[in-house]
Amino acid sequence: TSNKMWGGRFASGPDAIMEEINASIDFDKALYNEDIDGSIAHATMLAEKAIISKEDAGSIIEGLTTIRREIEAGDFAFSRQLEDIHMNIEARLRELIGPAAGRLHTARSRNDQVALDFRLWVKKELQRTEAALTRLIGVFLTRAEEHADTVMPGFTHLQTAQPVTFGHHCMAYVEMFGRDRARVRHAIEHLDESPIGAAALAGTGFAIDRHMTAAALGFSGGPTRNSIDTVSDRDFALEFLSLASICATHLSRLAEEIVIWSTPQFNFVRLSDSFSTGSSIMPQKKNPDAAELVRAKTGRINGSLVALLTVMKGLPLAYSKDMQEDKEQVFDAARSLDLAVAAMTGMVGDLTVNMDAMKAAAGSGFSTATDLADWLVREAGLPFRDAHHATGAAVALAEKKGCDLAELSLEELQGINQAITAGIFDVLTVEASVASRKSFGGTAPDEVRKQIAWWRERV
Ligand code: ARG
Repeated sequence: TSNKMWGGRFASGPDAIMEEINASIDFDKALYNEDIDGSIAHATMLAEKAIISKEDAGSIIEGLTTIRREIEAGDFAFSRQLEDIHMNIEARLRELIGPAAGRLHTARSRNDQVALDFRLWVKKELQRTEAALTRLIGVFLTRAEEHADTVMPGFTHLQTAQPVTFGHHCMAYVEMFGRDRARVRHAIEHLDESPIGAAALAGTGFAIDRHMTAAALGFSGGPTRNSIDTVSDRDFALEFLSLASICATHLSRLAEEIVIWSTPQFNFVRLSDSFSTGSSIMPQKKNPDAAELVRAKTGRINGSLVALLTVMKGLPLAYSKDMQEDKEQVFDAARSLDLAVAAMTGMVGDLTVNMDAMKAAAGSGFSTATDLADWLVREAGLPFRDAHHATGAAVALAEKKGCDLAELSLEELQGINQAITAGIFDVLTVEASVASRKSFGGTAPDEVRKQIAWWRERV
């Protein structure tokens, strides 16, 4: 007939533009493995339940195995006329095994088939992401161990605030990527139910066993409980895109910090040659391109989330073809996230920390002013607001003299508040400031080491 897929009802084939807008094979061929796994499980179950014969199931499975090999070897002729991966595989199966191929689609629709394939794909991607985040966390833990005592300025408003350690700063990212990894694990739990057997939307009259296919395909939550929801639901894709967006946002903030830190003006870190680029005109340049691209990928990933949310928001239940637009967003975001995490893992593992520059910067900008104020509260019993005021006067004096707080004389300090003694100089160094912040989760090196140990048990 002139229509390759539905010649029974259709007299003519689709318009060229219809084919162009409708075909998804160019991207959904990425689902071939999941599609074949799903079909093998389905055919096995159909035979087990005597819905098709064992012989037919045997030749279906053999044919599918051949097709998998053909695709892997690059020997498979994908056709746009056959719309998508499901129809491409089924058509080839018919060429290989004849009419028995037509029995595979018993008690099944492409609606539950695509929901299955895509879920399996997203699940695998989530597992990859979990492993990649574990590697990134591991790299940060190593850097944090090396630099538990390395003093750097902590910033608020990107203005020097209080001294912290580089190890502590690294551990802030461990917390973020640790939460990202927890979101990945939750997403895997949520999607771990099998869609196959929901059929077009209403279930099927055939006596199928959905528990059997769910188990065969490794879904720990068994089959989904509502056939209408099953073929309508793309939460699992949205959940992937949301967690990807949050994770990318963390990566992007880190990328931004690396861009700033690697400027000659900051000079806190030096990127390795393997994770930077030169300039075609300016010989002195070493550019943080990988960090910049990680920052940019975040825009792409966020765009994918917004795109799919927008596709889904107006769809009545159950399936609508709009949902075919889910895959490119997820595939693109997944590739971007994989690359961004891997690039960051490489960059952070490789970068050289300029401890002298960090320490010098940590001492500038009156970063121990809070320590002076805290001393006045602790040792002289001043209310914190009064201590804040006296310290402000000390900062103003030091600024006028063009010196550091620790370079003011005892007499000058006593001129601001008589209660000040020579003991004040013990708290005005950056090391003393950092060592004093022993509160739980604080920047004191011993406290940071405790947090590193806590995480070491969780990677
Ligand atoms: N290619 C389709 C998709 O990705 C498969 C499902 C088609 N189902 C349908 N009723 N047209 O969504």
